[in-house]
Amino acid sequence: MPYPPEATLLASAQRHLYPNYRQPELVMARGEGCQLWDTEGRRYLDLFAGIAVSTLGHAHPRLTRALCEQAGQLLHLSNYFYNEVGVRLAERLCTLSGLSRVFFCSSGTEANEALLKLARHHFYLAGQQQRSTIIAFHNSFHGRTLGALTATGQPKYREGFGPMSGVVHVPFGDLAAVEAALGPEVAGVLVEPVQGEGGVLPAPPGFLEGLRELTRAHGALLLVDEVQTGVGRTGKFLAVQHWGVVPDAVALAKGLGGGVPIGAMLTGEHLAEALPPGSHGTTFGGGPLAAAAAHAVLDTLEAEALMDRADRLGQHLHEALSRLVERFPQHAVTTRGMGLLRVLMLAPEVDARAVMSSLREAGVLLTLAGGQGLRFSPPLVVSAAELDEGVAALTHVLQRL
Ligand SMILES: Cc1ncc(COP(=O)(O)O)c(C=O)c1O
Repeated sequence: MPYPPEATLLASAQRHLYPNYRQPELVMARGEGCQLWDTEGRRYLDLFAGIAVSTLGHAHPRLTRALCEQAGQLLHLSNYFYNEVGVRLAERLCTLSGLSRVFFCSSGTEANEALLKLARHHFYLAGQQQRSTIIAFHNSFHGRTLGALTATGQPKYREGFGPMSGVVHVPFGDLAAVEAALGPEVAGVLVEPVQGEGGVLPAPPGFLEGLRELTRAHGALLLVDEVQTGVGRTGKFLAVQHWGVVPDAVALAKGLGGGVPIGAMLTGEHLAEALPPGSHGTTFGGGPLAAAAAHAVLDTLEAEALMDRADRLGQHLHEALSRLVERFPQHAVTTRGMGLLRVLMLAPEVDARAVMSSLREAGVLLTLAGGQGLRFSPPLVVSAAELDEGVAALTHVLQRL
């Protein structure tokens, strides 16, 4: 069936959708692998994966089949009962992460809210109500609900939504600042192993290990936000595994469902009683459909060795982007990242938004991170040829600047 004309859809979108986003004037209709097509039949190379979500690309047969089969069997139940798919998923996540308890929700923001509530309630139940403060980092991003936003360390997201309290922000990478902020009122430290929205900034050497030691020494919890970095994107299931750090609790979301909304908080056994029945919950968390999607993602991570691939192709992309930095030193400052989460930092004078728009007009989709960063977060099934196609288009755009 033909789609309605683009102009009609755009007029309807502009009239009926809440205008809190800044979409370009095109309407996507379908996808396959790392390709998307709009309603006019224009083809795009998807190197952003719906912001690091579409782990398997679009219309992956294993994910499609799992969803159809699950929809025909049991779609929703609520947490009044266990469901078989959700129980098995929790077991797999524990094995993959080395942690031992899973709370399911539906987004990254909710997974971080759970971390914040977990930390406070843990100390509340231990009779240490004064331990309620969270240390988080400048330039971090943890989500948009009031709790997660309070932890987010970027003024542009926070402005106008105050008052916010209970979180102290210190510079990312600065262990001395963390140590100075760690007092008897601190419940936990919340950190992204690679600051994603902040510009794809990996934690500097020794930082995460230092946070582990400091939090342990001060009796506070180490809470890790792996919403963007988790589920194999950096080449390991959790990014913290590159550093050999075991947090007290971790937030996952984005790539876990490959496009179906699911989030998870994973905790160590010592926190299993911090949120007893009645203290926290959500209607949709861990539902059979989302859990079936996550199984399909995890099955494919294994069957197609996608974590090794993220590592290998991440290196390939790193080399290609490094060549751009060498070739266009006036436009590109540096490149950094881990696995298939990488950024090309454009010079301050370059209009990064205009570069992204030109790329889109050339049929390549990327996002911005940290203002001047062109972020690559492709599906983990991306090929070297597809990455090369994206880099070639970017080369043309930089040539024309
Ligand atoms: C590190 C991190 N935490 C939390 C979030 C919020 O996740 P969601 O948009 O699924 O609520 C994001 C989203 O970009 C993120 O990158």
